Amino acid sequence: MKTYKIAVIAGDGVGPEVMAEAVKVLKETARIDGRFDFTFTDYPWGCEYYLKTGRMMPEDGMEILKDYDAILLGAVGYPGVPDHISLRGLLLEIRHGFDQYINLRPVKLLAGAPCPLKDVKREDINMTFIRENSEGEYSGSGAWLYKDQPEEVVIQNAVFSRKGCERVIRYAYELARKEGKTLTSISKANALNYSMVFWDQIFTELGREYPDVETHSYLVDAASMFMVKDPGRFQIVVTSNLFGDILTDLGAAIAGGMGLAAGANLNPDKKFPSMFEPIHGSAPDIAGKGIANPLASIWTAAQMLDFFGYEEWGTRIVNAIEKLLSEGKDLTPDLGGTASTSACGDALVRLLAE
Ligand code: NAD
Ligand code: IPM
Ligand code: MN
Repeated sequence: MKTYKIAVIAGDGVGPEVMAEAVKVLKETARIDGRFDFTFTDYPWGCEYYLKTGRMMPEDGMEILKDYDAILLGAVGYPGVPDHISLRGLLLEIRHGFDQYINLRPVKLLAGAPCPLKDVKREDINMTFIRENSEGEYSGSGAWLYKDQPEEVVIQNAVFSRKGCERVIRYAYELARKEGKTLTSISKANALNYSMVFWDQIFTELGREYPDVETHSYLVDAASMFMVKDPGRFQIVVTSNLFGDILTDLGAAIAGGMGLAAGANLNPDKKFPSMFEPIHGSAPDIAGKGIANPLASIWTAAQMLDFFGYEEWGTRIVNAIEKLLSEGKDLTPDLGGTASTSACGDALVRLLAE
């Protein structure tokens, strides 16, 4: 039997609440399957840890994490610690340090999930976003000159390397080829005359190696409009770090809400552990009430099983989520229900065993 070592960083706000349910579901899959098992090790890192120690994780945090098979993360960030400190000190440190250059985010309207768009067919909202996750607008490079003086200047550099662009765009082409889907690049070369011209050029260059893949290219402003007006245009989508961040919250909004939006930070080379986390944050407005929707975290756990090669389990969990949504009995308030976080998780575990 294969035992996977999982590091669990539940984090802040609703993070620990939704994480408990994802772990519950993973334990159930192991129990039913019998071929694999997990050990879960909790690390209490996050904003409370920061207030006690002055760090979001210990100095040797990355060293501790590097031997795990995967990391599960709840959410990071809470009022009281500036977001750029908490996120740079933990979440982004792990994404960058472990070269998790693919952020894979499904935007799929599951059966039974609510959709605010009218005149849109359910099957038209079925995209996979491949977000560049290691550089771009998130490089963290810049300067703050003449701080607090009248001449104050800030510079935030976007970094687009050939290696960084090629590997994420190639990943997207390969996925489109494998799934027989179209590939859409989203950029903004009309205004960003270095970074996005370069991005578009590489998208075209690599496309010559994939003549079988039908491609489209949109400017990010028009793409946002089409995601709402005509989402069926998008199948596999590849885009930069910041655009991918923004567009996947829009994606969440059209595909059932933040409580259903999952994402995986992948190091496809498997040199370092990959990290699985929902798209949503710590939701301070509902934290501590036991009403956060755990389904995004549970879907994220399904992505981890996909990544380990148990795709049948990934599919089985997503099917169980669809069944739960369609039955409509055990849903949290964001989906119009009255169930608690743990009651929703328990219901999913029951469906999984069926
Ligand atoms: P958020 O995603 O936490 O919340 C936005 C809205 O969605 C809120 O109304 C919230 O109640 C709702 N929501 C989010 N998750 C939900 C769930 N599971 N069930 C039901 N409703 C849910 O975004 P925000 O308010 O902009 O950010 C709060 C904090 O989280 C900030 O510190 C931010 O930096 C951080 N953040 C962290 C991550 C992460 O760790 N991956 C992602 C986004 C934001
Ligand atoms: C996300 C989040 C993060 C991001 C923040 C918290 C740094 O919004 O995972 O979507 O921008 O990547
Ligand atoms: Mn985001």
